[in-house]
Amino acid sequence: MTGGWWRDAVIYQVYLRSFADGTGDGVGDLAGLRGKLPYLAGLGVDALWITPWYPSPMADGGYDVADYRDIDPRFGTLADAGALLDEAHRHGLRVIVDIVPNHTSDRHPWFRAALAAGPGSPEREWYVFRDEPNDWRSVFGGPAWSRVPDGQWYLHLFDAAQPDLNWDHPDVRAEFLDVLRFWLDRGVDGFRIDVAHGLIKDPALPDLGLDHEGLVEPPDRSDHPHWDRPGVHEIFRSWRELARHYGEDRVFVAEAWVDSPQRLARYVRPDELHTAFNFDFLRCPWDAARLRSVIDSSVAALSAVDAPATWVLSNHDVTRHVTRYGGGLPRARAALLLMLALPGGAYLYQGEELGLAEVEDLPEEVLQDPTWERSGHTRRGRDGCRVPLPWSGAAPPFGFSTGTPWLPQPAHWAEQTVAAQENDPDSTLWLYRDALRIRKEHPAFGDGGLSWMDSPPEVLAFRREPGVVCVVNLGPVPVALPPHRKVLLASEPGDPGGELAPDSAVWLSA
Ligand code: GLC
Repeated sequence: MTGGWWRDAVIYQVYLRSFADGTGDGVGDLAGLRGKLPYLAGLGVDALWITPWYPSPMADGGYDVADYRDIDPRFGTLADAGALLDEAHRHGLRVIVDIVPNHTSDRHPWFRAALAAGPGSPEREWYVFRDEPNDWRSVFGGPAWSRVPDGQWYLHLFDAAQPDLNWDHPDVRAEFLDVLRFWLDRGVDGFRIDVAHGLIKDPALPDLGLDHEGLVEPPDRSDHPHWDRPGVHEIFRSWRELARHYGEDRVFVAEAWVDSPQRLARYVRPDELHTAFNFDFLRCPWDAARLRSVIDSSVAALSAVDAPATWVLSNHDVTRHVTRYGGGLPRARAALLLMLALPGGAYLYQGEELGLAEVEDLPEEVLQDPTWERSGHTRRGRDGCRVPLPWSGAAPPFGFSTGTPWLPQPAHWAEQTVAAQENDPDSTLWLYRDALRIRKEHPAFGDGGLSWMDSPPEVLAFRREPGVVCVVNLGPVPVALPPHRKVLLASEPGDPGGELAPDSAVWLSA
């Protein structure tokens, strides 16, 4: 179908516990988020994606859900969630919530019941219990199996506190349809599906044949026993069918780490999900030829199923792109203009509008990502992109909280607070606002196609119709700009003149 709001939406990811704290306990919450809705509306995004807000022991930052139909008291109440949805809608912002179907928390009543009921019981069938483990590894490090006191083992592709559900069980399917209904009835505009590529396992649970470290998997295998199995699609068709009863503007976005754009496109066929994160784009280094190839293959694969492309540079699981690209702020600012000029929609991650870099020097004793422990202290994990946002003031907690933030903020963020950037038209915050405003106003942006223009090998240059040209210089020397009527926006302050500096980008009206 064409014309849905989600086909060219810019969706802002709120990592709730690090966004804004309204209660003073050092953890972001719904009260804090509500207070910042005017900021988000002013930024110019179309929708918010809020990371899990459910009751959770927080073994994995809320991706270990103990009750899918309530709000964690640290974040607020169901009434607060309802009020947030209403108020966001009044600001013209849609709200997508995170749904975590691959696993529950080990405190979820189902897992408690499965443990209590013992081997061979119907309750154990809700999860993946076996008498012997296989060689699968947890994404966070270490084995994917833990033993319970009666001797059986259960599967957890993530932390031991996140037992995998058995999606071959009809009760599991029925339960999630009901959970979706619960939130659709409360007015959410859609769901971000956590680990969408993981739900179905080969029932024979064959060994992967990993090396002794468990780190090397055979590359590009199409018959992986627990990732991207064909059986997941039937589940998502049933979800789409359900959402259709609520109208075509309730949407799903898949978190699916798969091998190729063609495999990704299978998740967004017309009777399945609406969009999927484009991790090929996110993973692509700062290299013109490689980016161009990812852009072309993404657009081709997705348009073949009539789905819009989407683009993403950062999220709560990866190193922030200011740091990842290795070029500091200029590359990140140029990457924004590239991303927002591409056909389709885009996902922003909180703090990227402030140009925040990864916090790479968090002391070991504050690290909270389970990856740190499970990898035997060899991988620090994802806390460095999850540090609470700096809103105002000259020192931590930078207006995030009246208490002590759950992760410490770097002192040098004083220059990058929202308040500091408000007053500086050359700031990254202003670049985001300008870019989002122009993107919304100008008919060339969003859904549609692109045509590449001739350019030197280290430059990306393409046209969007009517009349916009985006040029990005990824090389080490300045390049001449193509003929144009005016510069709509430049990633670096000041008029670029006839030349585009290294690590910068422009939108031209041509
Ligand atoms: C997804 C989430 C990540 C979480 C994992 C397990 O990848 O984005 O944060 O740790 O799923 O739920």
